[in-house]
Amino acid sequence: MGQLVYTLAMFVGGLVIAFWKGPIFTLIVIAYMPIMVVFGALFGRRVKANMFRKLGQSKKMGALTEETLSAMKLVVSFAQEDHAVGKFDAVAEETNSAAKSASLAQAGMTGVFLTTMFGFFVYSYAVGSWLIESQTINPTTGEVYSAVEIIQVSQATMMAIMTIAGISNIVPAIVKALVVGKKVFDLIDREPLIRSPATSAKSAHSISIDSGIQFENIEFRYPTQPEKSRNIFQGATFTIKPYTSTAIVGPSGSGKSTIVQLLNRFYDPQEG
Ligand SMILES: Nc1ncnc2c1ncn2[C@@H]1O[C@H](COP(=O)(O)OP(=O)(O)OP(=O)(O)O)[C@@H](O)[C@H]1O
Ligand SMILES: [Mg+2]
Repeated sequence: MGQLVYTLAMFVGGLVIAFWKGPIFTLIVIAYMPIMVVFGALFGRRVKANMFRKLGQSKKMGALTEETLSAMKLVVSFAQEDHAVGKFDAVAEETNSAAKSASLAQAGMTGVFLTTMFGFFVYSYAVGSWLIESQTINPTTGEVYSAVEIIQVSQATMMAIMTIAGISNIVPAIVKALVVGKKVFDLIDREPLIRSPATSAKSAHSISIDSGIQFENIEFRYPTQPEKSRNIFQGATFTIKPYTSTAIVGPSGSGKSTIVQLLNRFYDPQEG
């Protein structure tokens, strides 16, 4: 935001000084502005696209490396070393070419920028010297344009034009920040589907097991297919005394693992 204010101030200030020192000359010189803006925008887009491609490739390469290294035992036990190396080579090759074209685009951008900037000085000084030679009157002073005024207008207009190039960089950044910011705030404001019942412990720190763990008349069906799946506990009631070890014994499918899952609140009671 600060940069935006600063840029706008520089733009307005540059134009005010230019128009004050030599209005007609300023108008002629400003005609150059669209050339700079168009070239800047064209190359800026290319640079950005290449940067995104390069970033995406680096991310891909990082993910592939991490995945392969963390599953190294698996790779080796299936004798997939050559396959993994080949996969990495392909991605590395693509990353290399992406990085190269990103650098090339950036270098091109610098070239275009400098060319149009010096082109501006060539243009404005050519017009300025023609104005002096043809003894054109400067409306501000009522006298013939002086070399000093030509330089003042040329420099001030250049400043103003440069800030336009600056703004075209800032605006996409602001838009991107707005888009990303909304995503982040949406995530923060999201209401979780799993709600804590009013009676449940708020956090692990506030859980006291001094009274043990009680299951009172527990009924439970797996929610995947509530009508089909059977009620596993049929009113199970038991207490696990505090600071004791308790063994849960039963045949396969009797619900031992389910008890542990209920304790972990993997399946919360439905509201209502
Ligand atoms: N995710 C699920 N969806 C639906 N039904 C399930 C699910 N998990 C388990 N069940 C069913 O719930 C019942 C209890 O399963 P649970 O895994 O708790 O038994 P268990 O006592 O741990 O068995 P085991 O000794 O084989 O581990 C079984 O009938 C099982 O088929
Ligand atoms: Mg089990």
